[in-house]
Amino acid sequence: IHSAVKLNNGVLMPWLGLGVYKAEAGEEVKQAIHTALAAGYRHIDTASFYNNEESVGEAIRETSVPREEIFVTTKVWNDDQGYDETLRAFETSRQKLGLEVIDLYLIHWPVSGKFVDTWKALEKLYAEGKIRAIGVSNFLIDDLEDLMKHTEIKPSVNQVEWHPRLVQTELQEFCQKHGIQVEAWSPLGRARLLDEPVLTELAEKHGKSAAQIILRWDLQKQIVTIPKSVTPERIKQNAAIFDFELTDEDIKKIDALHTGERYGPNPADF
Ligand code: A2P
Repeated sequence: IHSAVKLNNGVLMPWLGLGVYKAEAGEEVKQAIHTALAAGYRHIDTASFYNNEESVGEAIRETSVPREEIFVTTKVWNDDQGYDETLRAFETSRQKLGLEVIDLYLIHWPVSGKFVDTWKALEKLYAEGKIRAIGVSNFLIDDLEDLMKHTEIKPSVNQVEWHPRLVQTELQEFCQKHGIQVEAWSPLGRARLLDEPVLTELAEKHGKSAAQIILRWDLQKQIVTIPKSVTPERIKQNAAIFDFELTDEDIKKIDALHTGERYGPNPADF
């Protein structure tokens, strides 16, 4: 069983999760979740936008792993932002997943003019015990400041694009100062970074793959990470990151790969 970080409200969140963006609803995503659970993952990250919540829920209800051992994240989509809309969207997600309680519910993108009311709905759902922790995704420092100025509860998590080309150090420092855990989506840079010589050299040095080097780098930087894969061998490989350690020197080499390049949308455009 993988280790976990204690969020700012005391809830434990496993450092490693399975991302299921672009994992197809039905057998593909169900198989990925069963493989992941067998490999020791206890954390699944989905979203209403991924259109696979029903299958994710089915897999979680099918497995012999107890529900309380699995940390499940889903997210409210942009079109559903606003107070009443979010309450409805949450209920839809909860029903699709077929789960009583969601471990982490995130605002998927910082839609300007909407996210404060959306957050107030999350606060209500949290107070009612339907969600164990609430957070945001793709929020910039300005968005976080704006949110915290106008609402009561601080986010537990900010899930952002984070990989060796996008090392958001200033954002991480801001989040740390406010007790917000940073989580990496597309930690492997959508697999586009795996041939990078710095990473393949470190891979050789440690007897690991470039993917494992990146994921270990996340852990040592205290970033929760959710690599996506539907390939059994890769799902297992991505979990074998708890048995080696990068040196400070190794970590600096990876940090230096930063260019600021994004593979996904820029949150400033929302
Ligand atoms: P697949 O799902 O076909 O196995 P990210 O999480 O950064 O967005 O990366 C996801 C992409 O990386 C997917 O295309 C996934 O492919 C691929 N991938 C995941 N793990 C590995 C790995 N260990 N080695 C190579 N490719 C991987």
